[in-house]
Amino acid sequence: MKDEIIKVSLKEKSYKVFIRNKILNDCGLYLEPLNLSKKILLVSQNKVPKSYRDQTEKSLKKSGYKVFKIILQSGETYKNKESLLKIIKSAVKNKFERNDSFLALGGGVISDLTGFAASIYYRGVNFICLPTTLLGMVDASIGGKTSINIKEGKNLLGTFYQPRVILIDPYCIKTLPEKELLTGMGEVIKYALLERTARKIFSGQSFFNYLRKNKNNILKKSLTEILKIITHSAKIKAKIVSKDEKESNLRAILNLGHTFAHGIEQAYNYKKYTHGEAVSIGMCLASKLAYNHGFIKKHLADLVIELIDSYKLPTETENEKTESIIKSMLLDKKVKDGKLRFILPYQNIGTVKIISTIPITEVKALLES
Ligand SMILES: NC(=O)c1ccc[n+]([C@@H]2O[C@H](COP(=O)([O-])OP(=O)(O)OC[C@H]3O[C@@H](n4cnc5c(N)ncnc54)[C@H](O)[C@@H]3O)[C@@H](O)[C@H]2O)c1
Repeated sequence: MKDEIIKVSLKEKSYKVFIRNKILNDCGLYLEPLNLSKKILLVSQNKVPKSYRDQTEKSLKKSGYKVFKIILQSGETYKNKESLLKIIKSAVKNKFERNDSFLALGGGVISDLTGFAASIYYRGVNFICLPTTLLGMVDASIGGKTSINIKEGKNLLGTFYQPRVILIDPYCIKTLPEKELLTGMGEVIKYALLERTARKIFSGQSFFNYLRKNKNNILKKSLTEILKIITHSAKIKAKIVSKDEKESNLRAILNLGHTFAHGIEQAYNYKKYTHGEAVSIGMCLASKLAYNHGFIKKHLADLVIELIDSYKLPTETENEKTESIIKSMLLDKKVKDGKLRFILPYQNIGTVKIISTIPITEVKALLES
């Protein structure tokens, strides 16, 4: 099987994303052209299957790298300053220097954390990313946003720091728990809402329709469908990031559903909903808001909600937390001059509009409806 190769074009910071089943077994080979020094700190988590770590380590060693490991606890609560310091201290202890590398093997938590550590250790060492969750493969690993959470808010400390290479092994999805597969599908559906062109890879249909028609195979983790949706989603993200690395403009559209999502995640203390679940609720609310403002027809809002529901993702919250959701939404980084900024579907699948004039009272009524 040939690699799918996607380029993230950011001048001297450009890099490639390679996608192939079982690519972990050969990961060392992909690092050789990068001329890195031979020391790698592999950062992973206890719930990422050990076999992935073993395959990665074996291949790296075969290519002559000296591998140091740090295995953190799994879970969003560990995306914190304590984990960050563990990574940094391990690098200090093992005398890591400027041209050495940190490698993330895991989901979005591990890539955000390891990327952040790589960006600040020695003012920046090489960062390599091997995402193992669907969300990590289609979203978190690509684009260079790194972060940790602090008590005051999610992702409040972070940097823009691009990896040197991303290696995606869709085969890792096989061991992913259903809840994590579905949370990744929340972001995949978001991409489908950002694109309307019919594609050869989807036999001439739109991404949105492909997701509607191939739901059963995707949920069964059929590798044919999984490979297609990962490759296509990663292409969309790479294209947007290449045009707007630091979210000054176009990249903001990737926040479709996220204004609500971050408020929801925080209001429920990151316990009740995963990121992708919160994004799913956010996309349903964004569609309802778009319909209320006459941006889309009811049929379209219903189609979006139906698709999300068909992937067993939540479409609404219970309304007892409205006040805390709004409070958390107002604390989000996307708030500009005290105004909430929403990305809303506009006219058709594939087009969105950024709007900052929706009064809080209307958002409240929507959350309570
Ligand atoms: N940087 C970005 O642009 C960006 C974008 C979206 C989300 N994120 C961040 O990503 C994080 C969520 O990432 P996530 O959804 O990948 O969650 P996660 O990293 O917590 O992984 C989910 C769970 O699956 C386990 N796991 C990972 N790979 C596995 C595999 N192949 N088989 C079995 N278990 C596996 C993990 O150990 C963990 O328990 C959030 O912190 C979010 O803020 C970042």
